[in-house]
Amino acid sequence: MWLLNSSIGKKLIMSISGLFLVLFLLFHMAMNVTAVFSEDAYNMICSLLGSNWYAVAGTLVLAAGFIVHICYSILLTLQNRKARGSDRYAVNSRPKTVEWSSQNMFVLGLIVVGFLLLHFAQFWYKMMFAELMGHHQIELGGAMVSTQAGAQFIKYYFSNVVIVVLYLIWYVALWFHLTHGFWSAIQTIGWNNTIWLKRWQVIGNIFATVICLGFAFVTIAFYLKSLL
Ligand code: HEM
Repeated sequence: MWLLNSSIGKKLIMSISGLFLVLFLLFHMAMNVTAVFSEDAYNMICSLLGSNWYAVAGTLVLAAGFIVHICYSILLTLQNRKARGSDRYAVNSRPKTVEWSSQNMFVLGLIVVGFLLLHFAQFWYKMMFAELMGHHQIELGGAMVSTQAGAQFIKYYFSNVVIVVLYLIWYVALWFHLTHGFWSAIQTIGWNNTIWLKRWQVIGNIFATVICLGFAFVTIAFYLKSLL
């Protein structure tokens, strides 16, 4: 089947799964910004999602999106390396027009996934997973908190400057990954006539900046609140 075997088929699957993940990030960022303005509203959203069947179904679809995107990125990277053979060991004289991020998408993706695992351990594991395991409360910094009180988790983690800095590094890697990924996905899908190519690049940059600035806003706002 060409979609699974050909290089363009694999790129198409990566592009569609990547765009789906961008939509999730937009939703996730918007939801998290709520926490800065109303912790109660945020906790209400978390309890609505909680471990209900529709939230678990959403998580499974999201996990499938991540798994497809990651597996195909590995397949394509290996395929590209094989095609280039020993050339990849030659001095890298890339043309200036080739963006830095386009050359480093795989490494940027690895950094994003690495931080994502830390994020899961701090939030998802102690919230949705704990609830699925039948816990309604969990120990956080010496106190017991509800597994649905998302704002308490944000407050706790983002009062630690080391975690704040790590998350900010995460958003920078995510920004580079998203700016190139969005534009590249649009090209793969074929929406790349000369007028729209530049426009899609600008739209991709705006998307990535809004998403990453939104996450950074939440992280910094909670850190500053913790100092008061
Ligand atoms: C300000 C920054 C962020 C905050 C406060 C935050 C908060 C949260 C919380 C509270 C959860 C647990 C939800 C639950 O299990 O009920 C969660 C899950 C998750 N977060 Fe974040 N997040 C942030 C940034 C990010 C970023 C940058 C990404 C991806 C690059 C991300 C990806 C995820 C994913 C994939 C889940 C699991 C979602 C699910 O279970 O369906 N988060 N996050």
